[in-house]
Amino acid sequence: MNAVEIEAAISELALQPFDAAEFPFAFLAAFGNKDTALKRLRAGNNNTSDVPGGVLLRNNIHIAVCEAGTVGETLQALRASPATAKAKAKFILATDGQALEAEELVSGETIACDYSDFPNHFGLLLPLAGITTIKEIKDNPIDVRATGRLNKLYVELLRENLDWAKDERRADMNHFMARLIFCFFAEDTDIFNGEGLFTRTVDRFSDRDGSNTHEVLQAIFRAMNTKIAERAAGGFRPWADQFPYVNGGLFSGSTEVPRFTRMARTYLLHAGGLNWKEINPDIFGSMIQAVADDEERGALGMHYTSVPNILKVLNPLFLDDLRAQLAEAGSNERKLLNLRKRMARIRVFDPACGSGNFLVIAYKQMREIEAEINRRRGEPHLGSDIPLTNFRGIELRDFPAEIARLALIIAEFQCDVLYRGQKEALAEFLPLNAENWIVCGNALQLDWLSVCPPAGTGVKVKADDLFGTPLNQTEIDFENEGGETYICGNPPYLGAKKKSKQQSEDMSAVGLGDAQLLDYVAAFIVKGLDVVESTSTAMALVSTSSICQGEQVSLLWPRIFSKAAVSFAYRPFKWANSAAKNAGVFCTIIGLVKDETKDKRIYDGEIVRRCESISPYLIPGPKVYCKPEASPISAVSQMKMGSNSVDGKRLVLESDAASAIVSKYPDAASFIRMYGGTKELVSGVPRRCIWIEDDKVDDANNIPPIKAAIDACREYRMSAGRDARKAASRPHAFCYSTYEERDFLQVGNTIGGALAFVPVDIKRQGFVSNHNAFVIYGAPLVEFSIIASTLHKVWAETIAGRLGDGIRYGNTVVYNTFPVPLLTEQNKVDLTACAEDILLAREAHFPATIADLYDPETMPENLRRAHERNDEVLERIYIGRRFKNDTERLEKLFELYTKMTAATATAKPATKATRRKKA
Ligand SMILES: C[S@@+](CC[C@H](N)C(=O)[O-])C[C@H]1O[C@@H](n2cnc3c(N)ncnc32)[C@H](O)[C@@H]1O
Repeated sequence: MNAVEIEAAISELALQPFDAAEFPFAFLAAFGNKDTALKRLRAGNNNTSDVPGGVLLRNNIHIAVCEAGTVGETLQALRASPATAKAKAKFILATDGQALEAEELVSGETIACDYSDFPNHFGLLLPLAGITTIKEIKDNPIDVRATGRLNKLYVELLRENLDWAKDERRADMNHFMARLIFCFFAEDTDIFNGEGLFTRTVDRFSDRDGSNTHEVLQAIFRAMNTKIAERAAGGFRPWADQFPYVNGGLFSGSTEVPRFTRMARTYLLHAGGLNWKEINPDIFGSMIQAVADDEERGALGMHYTSVPNILKVLNPLFLDDLRAQLAEAGSNERKLLNLRKRMARIRVFDPACGSGNFLVIAYKQMREIEAEINRRRGEPHLGSDIPLTNFRGIELRDFPAEIARLALIIAEFQCDVLYRGQKEALAEFLPLNAENWIVCGNALQLDWLSVCPPAGTGVKVKADDLFGTPLNQTEIDFENEGGETYICGNPPYLGAKKKSKQQSEDMSAVGLGDAQLLDYVAAFIVKGLDVVESTSTAMALVSTSSICQGEQVSLLWPRIFSKAAVSFAYRPFKWANSAAKNAGVFCTIIGLVKDETKDKRIYDGEIVRRCESISPYLIPGPKVYCKPEASPISAVSQMKMGSNSVDGKRLVLESDAASAIVSKYPDAASFIRMYGGTKELVSGVPRRCIWIEDDKVDDANNIPPIKAAIDACREYRMSAGRDARKAASRPHAFCYSTYEERDFLQVGNTIGGALAFVPVDIKRQGFVSNHNAFVIYGAPLVEFSIIASTLHKVWAETIAGRLGDGIRYGNTVVYNTFPVPLLTEQNKVDLTACAEDILLAREAHFPATIADLYDPETMPENLRRAHERNDEVLERIYIGRRFKNDTERLEKLFELYTKMTAATATAKPATKATRRKKA
């Protein structure tokens, strides 16, 4: 169950009449516990509670329903209960049906509220369903509740109004939802006269069956689109006439409303019943956008970029600097005024703004700083100088774009209430401003400089409708022109191979037609680079970390270095939102400015490292990037991919199946070989494959199961891809073979996060490596020593592409680029001895596998020592001593790499013209 579903379930429970006997089980069911588990608890088998009326679910919660007025004592009893500790309960909860108290035992956080109010505190209880929520949701469950309510309404309305679900009417539906959200917010914040005016009016004047709800809403919307002075001619009923003039485009245009069912009307009233005053426009906006998206609706409430993550971008981009200026100004009135003036001219631009959360947070943070300036200057009631229209965005989809505008409007109102007071905020709020500063369109096809011009006033077309503005009407004046501009945001995470045709075209539109191997986000960076280069704009976008790893580096970074400098960067970090499809996505944030800065920073978890230069691999280091190489730059053997059967597994066997064939047909033994790739290398459990030389096909076909496999392979290939079809005439053989009749080194193509070294082993002649591993035939043991070294692992970790927590080892990207100094004969003898020691140390633990042996936590001491000796000998060859740390290792490796690849790998590759000049 997700957070929204749990919230809905406990809200439902709180609405039911309280049933003391049933409550604990109903509560546990609301948190997703299975019927079978509850049945056992009910039967008493698993209930180890030692408190009267108690129900104790192991590792979860200890609940007790008690006599009226004894909730506090009962909670105390639950806390003191030995059973609570023994069963490792995370929470305790006591209720008498009127009051409810609960406590999270580790943090000591508590809930104490009326029973009917406990759904408002459900955020604290979410860990009961295994959901570790971000703090903001925990503290403000209203955003989840509001999303859940509106989602139900949206789905019900689409069910009833099938035509509104069609593409042509989706925009109307989204616009309608934006109007509702505004009304809910306005009625709880005194923007409408009297609390709850909107929901109350709908409740009172629409029929219970929902049949005329649309007419009531239409009348209200029409009123909000009519100036008070023009109301008399409009024939408004008194209940509609109470609503203020809002417009700003929000209520202009068609006031058509979808038809309501009884359920839809109830959902609307439920949504209106929430307290929208507390809504967080950034959190709510991100959540609500999923409502209008058929694909995302399932993960409702999960697409939330946390405020800390947004601040990872905004703080180093410009907020830290503003705060430093504030600290430096102290109480100096002139300096404070200068800062206020500076902030009034700052423009923030998000080219993939979604529901505007980056813009909202930037706005709120700046208002906080401005309020502090006003406080220090003794002008707390002064109106804000920060124009909302300086926070600009582009968003592809219309619903988030609408929500972004609404979120900013709500944020401005909330800041006004907070810093200036309710009265002042209300006085200036209505009517809404009709300007449109969020563009709905494809950012990669639009001119960013006209959406967010660096200076001057841009195109002077004034929009007449805030919420339905065509693209060519988006450009409006910037207030206080001539200030700084900051580009920020979180463009879509889309791997190179997952791009749609349109997205590939977008890549071409920004000059990356020949670099389709790049992730989609690279197009936003490259487009932004032009703005950074031509203006004093600084940019920081959240990006997939793959643009700093593997093959993508040499495609993107020359472009970056030719136009901008890196001012800060984050080491790859796991993207922390709970959307299932983002699980395991590693991100980075790269700050780009036009001119080199002195104070460059690398953020690595809690650590901030200052350095002179940031490498494309996001480590302190030179502007050097490695290009994939077809052969090694060092004097080492050729590494190839293993053999690829392309057989739909027809020629591959589990070892049991192979043994069964051989025991029945002993001649089959000569056609069956050991087989495996990285998985088998690490787990130590090889499979088998059928391996038939061309001149032995007739013999092989005499063995029925072998013949069956060959026939099955032919059939598979005939119906598979082009290459497979070509190989269908040789179904006895692998499609691609790099096999040689001699011993070889096998190297894993992925290195799991938990392995201490690159997995490598010697395989004997006859073993067939599949294409999920690399092979070096005839490699001397020196090369085993090199691949098994810390130096090589550090290089792989830095250069290679990532795969979840691990790395994707590659011959062209990692092995062929690895710089090895020329080795003397003595070096080779020493390294060979080290390799032998490692192999002997492994032998001593037979049959332990590589996975067992190389877990950094449990690596056997003799093997660890053998690796240390290997590292010692190899590192002395590089610098005459052990490296102090990985930073030093990488510095040396990049220095050697640069020398060995000479001019081709420098940051600004020589153009044809400069090369000619040099010659
Ligand atoms: C990862 S989301 C980030 C949005 C928001 N900052 C957040 O955290 O929820 C990326 C947004 O970019 C939008 N988008 C995708 N491609 C786009 C394009 N070519 N131009 C403008 N927006 C785009 C998506 O619709 C989505 O709202």
